[in-house]
Amino acid sequence: MGASISVRNVAKGFHLTRRGHFSVLEDVTFKVAAGEFVALVGPSGCGKTTLLDLIAGLARPDRGQILVNDHPIEGPGLDRGVVFQQYALFPWKTALGNVEFGLEAKGVARAERKRRARAFLDLVGLGGFGDRYPHELSGGMKQRVAIARALSFDPDVLLMDEPFAALDAQTRETLQDELLRIWQRTGTTIVFITHSIDEAVYLGQRVLVMAAAPGRITHSLNVHLERDNLSEDLRSAPEFVRLRHDIWQLTHQRRPTSGAALVHAA
Ligand SMILES: Nc1ncnc2c1ncn2[C@@H]1O[C@H](COP(=O)(O)OP(=O)(O)OP(=O)(O)O)[C@@H](O)[C@H]1O
Ligand SMILES: [Mg+2]
Repeated sequence: MGASISVRNVAKGFHLTRRGHFSVLEDVTFKVAAGEFVALVGPSGCGKTTLLDLIAGLARPDRGQILVNDHPIEGPGLDRGVVFQQYALFPWKTALGNVEFGLEAKGVARAERKRRARAFLDLVGLGGFGDRYPHELSGGMKQRVAIARALSFDPDVLLMDEPFAALDAQTRETLQDELLRIWQRTGTTIVFITHSIDEAVYLGQRVLVMAAAPGRITHSLNVHLERDNLSEDLRSAPEFVRLRHDIWQLTHQRRPTSGAALVHAA
């Protein structure tokens, strides 16, 4: 079952050589409910990956606090699965070995580990590729192994950083639907970063919009799309078209023409 996430007044900066302190995130506050699917959009360099790293526990905020199920984050943990922006597979392990890794860390017995890893490779359409090494896979296939790995140990929270950005349009749409099905089945909380407004509206129950310099969340928009039947063309539904337009306006610093479902995030 999914866990809730609470990001409270988080600030994060970096020290640049000879250029002093550089503030990336300032006063970022938002909540994600247990089992919610939230998409995060914002311009390149606004701090999306930095924010995800903080939730993953890979870095610590300079100020503020992040709680998962009301517990402050101490570091990385198996309650949170991460799919990175760039393929982060172990080059010395096969596709199957990479997926098994999280299960190994969780103490799942060998035979069960293999069975589950195979099932997740099947799920992302890589059933026949378990014995391949990362350098023998295409970019899209590597990303699918990373997704299978993150899903295999059944995390409470799935943090995804533009996981489908490098894929061709058709594979991307297939994996989007697959991810929605997995989310509906598992109830995992998902935070999904993307550059694509279309992708954010298609996947998210809610879309958070970020602005840059300093990085902060400016808007939160609820998405009311009927996702029970994924074979329908959701992308041409009036709600989809309206939201895409509104978010486009917001990310281009214009006022949205229809602001019905618009809520300021902070
Ligand atoms: N370790 C670091 N040291 C110094 N600056 C950093 C570091 N990591 C990120 N930054 C800076 O922080 C800012 C935000 O980076 P981040 O990777 O979070 O952006 P992003 O929103 O994920 O961008 P993109 O959409 O291109 O992936 C950038 O200006 C980047 O140069
Ligand atoms: Mg990034």
